[in-house]
Amino acid sequence: MDPQFSEIKGRQEQLLGKLGSDLLIIPGGVANGSITRFRQGSNFFYLTGFPEHGAVLVIDPGDDSGAVNLFVRENTEKEIVWDGFTMGVNKTAEICPADKVYHIRELEDFLHGRLLNRSVHYKPVEGHPYSRIIGQAIKSQGAETQDEGEVFDEITAMRIVKSPFEIEQMRRAIQITSDAHHACMRAGMRHRHEYQFEAEFEYTCKMEGALQYAFGTIVAAGNHATCQHYIENAGPVSNNDLVLIDGGALWNGYCADLTRTFPASGKFSSIQRDLYEIVLASQKAGVEKVAPGVCMIDIHNHSAAVLIDGMKELGLVKGDTYELIESNAYKDYWPGALCHSLGIDVHDVLLPGYHKGDKALKPGMIITVEPGFYSQAFNKDIPEEFREIGIRIEDDVLVTEEGHENLSPDTAKEVADVEAMVQSGAE
Ligand code: GLY
Ligand code: MN
Repeated sequence: MDPQFSEIKGRQEQLLGKLGSDLLIIPGGVANGSITRFRQGSNFFYLTGFPEHGAVLVIDPGDDSGAVNLFVRENTEKEIVWDGFTMGVNKTAEICPADKVYHIRELEDFLHGRLLNRSVHYKPVEGHPYSRIIGQAIKSQGAETQDEGEVFDEITAMRIVKSPFEIEQMRRAIQITSDAHHACMRAGMRHRHEYQFEAEFEYTCKMEGALQYAFGTIVAAGNHATCQHYIENAGPVSNNDLVLIDGGALWNGYCADLTRTFPASGKFSSIQRDLYEIVLASQKAGVEKVAPGVCMIDIHNHSAAVLIDGMKELGLVKGDTYELIESNAYKDYWPGALCHSLGIDVHDVLLPGYHKGDKALKPGMIITVEPGFYSQAFNKDIPEEFREIGIRIEDDVLVTEEGHENLSPDTAKEVADVEAMVQSGAE
């Protein structure tokens, strides 16, 4: 059996065990009509693997003929002209695990009478063409709906811990992303516009078969890098700039998310290097601390302490490191969080408590470790030469039984390796 097929079937069975006699309805993603590539809804994808828009999954444990029912579109000749080919019922039944695959227009009849006084877990998806039909069936049959709670938490809990199959997909996404970063570094002394690096990055991803990205690629040169989510990628790159690239390939529905920062001249200035080294030390300290039983907030604070100690050595801040953490004083220079979960979504699902420190990491989780230093023109507390600089270094890290595995260990990040790679592409 195809590993993806059996994996998804296993997920459906696990969830069935949690549903009792309740129904679960999950609408798939909606085409937005603006001629952009469609990306499937995350929970729907997790439970079906079905790639097309406008579908609906209904899991009904009370259905003796099979609990898992998938409803898909089957485009007519007229629809194919604008919307393209669809897999249709038969092909979908071959590829996706479901007890029964139906044409989507059968959904109304299927739901008729089925929801009477039942409890239904259902979160509407805005703009879904069948929202009205599902909503009417729920209302007219007096079903009680829940759009959050135990069942959705169970899906989240399942998604948080990655299976070997999922880890394999993410390794591929990360390898492609790493290659894209190296291609950009090698082009570092040639490209002189942010969008050229964006093209280089995305070209590499596409040439390796990743047709979509985890999120909009960030290419930020000079002071643009002080904005966490700068995505214009429209500015010039000058010789003295650091170039921050934060991007990720999407592979078989799974995200990578890696950031590297390099000097466009091929050589860090001494201030750039000093700052880069403290971010690197903070990043490595964070990666080293990743292990089961450890909370993300403790890893964050550990990385922050290393960053603050480095800033103290450079004379940029004064005071007790832990007081500076407690008072959030360092947030002027690093406003973000060190870690987020990574998976089908770039900021993947987490249950409440993981960020606050009530829940610890478990084997199979994949998180990012991404400290940064970002100084604005208005940060007048530090000398001018340290202002308007943005540096971020980000790896993707798997929590293992023993500790952790850095999934991007070969993506250049040491000063000498980054400089050598940038210089290697000089004309
Ligand atoms: N890569 C973007 C972010 O993590 O926010
Ligand atoms: Mn990230």
